[in-house]
Amino acid sequence: MNTYTIASIAGDGIGKEVVPAAWRVLKTLERVQGDFELHVTEFPWSCDYYIEHGRMMPEDGLEQLEAFDAVFLGAVGHPDLVPDHISLWGLLINIRRGFDQQINVRPSRQFEGLSSPLANPNQFNLMVVRENSEGEYSEVGGRMYSGEDEIAIQNNVFSKKAVKAVMEYAFQLGKDRSGHVTSATKSNGIVFSMPFWDEVFNEVKENYPGIDTRSEHIDALAAAFVTKPETMDVVVGSNLFGDILTDIGAALMGSIGIAPAANININGKYPSMFEPVHGSAPDIEGQGLANPIGQLWTAQMMLEHLGESTAAQTLMNAIEYVIKQGTVTKDLGGDASTENVVKAVEEYLTSENTK
Ligand code: NAD
Ligand code: IPM
Ligand code: MN
Repeated sequence: MNTYTIASIAGDGIGKEVVPAAWRVLKTLERVQGDFELHVTEFPWSCDYYIEHGRMMPEDGLEQLEAFDAVFLGAVGHPDLVPDHISLWGLLINIRRGFDQQINVRPSRQFEGLSSPLANPNQFNLMVVRENSEGEYSEVGGRMYSGEDEIAIQNNVFSKKAVKAVMEYAFQLGKDRSGHVTSATKSNGIVFSMPFWDEVFNEVKENYPGIDTRSEHIDALAAAFVTKPETMDVVVGSNLFGDILTDIGAALMGSIGIAPAANININGKYPSMFEPVHGSAPDIEGQGLANPIGQLWTAQMMLEHLGESTAAQTLMNAIEYVIKQGTVTKDLGGDASTENVVKAVEEYLTSENTK
C-alpha cells in the first residue's frame, strides 16, 4: 500500500466548499482503487484565521508543512475582511516562495460536451509553464512623494537561475509532448527583463535541437490564445504573463471553475502545492454554485505528481464523463450544484469499480 501525507488548506470563500468536495472524491477513489492511501491533515489558515491571530498562518507554518508529501490548497482571499496583498502574501505566495516552487504548471484543453466560447472550436490542448517565484511579483520598489506628485515604483526581478529553471522545465515538457514550445515575451517594449528572457530562451533551446520554438509578444499571444489555441503546445511565460494567459486558457475551456494548477518544487526538497487557478469567488460563496471540477482536476495533478498514475487517469475519466453527460454547474451553463457534481463523480467511480 502506497501512503502519502497531504496538508490540506481549504482557505477562504469557495475554497471551503470545493476542498471538502474534492476530499470526498479522493476518499472514494482511494476506497475503490484499494492500493494507495492519503493521510490528510487539515490546516485552518485563512482570512478568518487572520482575524483571530493577526497572521494568515503561524510563524512556524512552513515548518509545519515541510514534512508533507504535498500541499492541497483551495483558494485564498476575502478582500472585504483582509486586504488581498496581506492575505495572499501571508499564505499563498509565502508557501510558493518558502518552498521554492519555481514552476507553476497550468493545463488548458477542450472538453467534449462543453460549449466553447471560441470562434473556431478546434481541438486544443496546451500547457502553460509559468515562472512562479519572482518577475513582476517582486517586493522591490516603493512609494515616494505625496499628493499629485506621488510615485509608485515596482521593480521586476528576473534571475538567470529562475528563468533558466522555468525554460528547462518547459523544454522537458515539450519533449514529452508534441515538441513545441512558445515563449511569451515583450522585448519590443520592455528593455531589460524581456531581452534577457529571450536570451535565456535561445540559450536553453540550443540543448533541445528536436524542439520547435516560437517567441511571441504577449499581446499577440493573448490574441492567438483566442483565435488559434490549437497551434499551441507548451507555452512558457513570466509570472504575470503566465497568470494572465492561464485565465484566458481557463476561459477557453468554458470557465475558470475547471482550471487546475501545480506549483512544483523541482529539487524535491520541499513539498509541491496543488491549487486551482480560480480564487475564492466571494460573489458565489455559500450558495452551492461553486464548480468543484477545478479542485478535482487539481487533485488529479497531485495524484499524478505522487506517482499514482492509475488513480489519476481514473479521476480524469470521471471528470470527462461527468462533463460529457452534462452534470455541470451554472458557470458552465448547467443547473447542477456542487453537491450534484460530486455525487455524479462518485457514482462514476463506484460503478467503474463494479465492472
Ligand atoms: P475568482 O477566480 O475568485 O472569481 C472570478 C469569477 O469567476 C467570479 O465571478 C467567480 O464567481 C467565478 N468563479 C471562480 N471560481 C469559480 C468556481 N469554482 N465555480 C464557479 N464560478 C467560479 O477571482 P477574483 O474575483 O478576482 O478574486 C476573488 C478573491 O480570490 C480575491 O481575494 C483574489 O485575490 C483571490 N484569488 C486567489 C487565488 C488563489 O488563491 N490561488 C487566485 C485568484 C484570486
Ligand atoms: C493565481 C492568482 C494569484 C497570482 C494571486 C491571487 C496573487 O491570481 O494563482 O493565479 O497572481 O499568482
Ligand atoms: Mn491568477
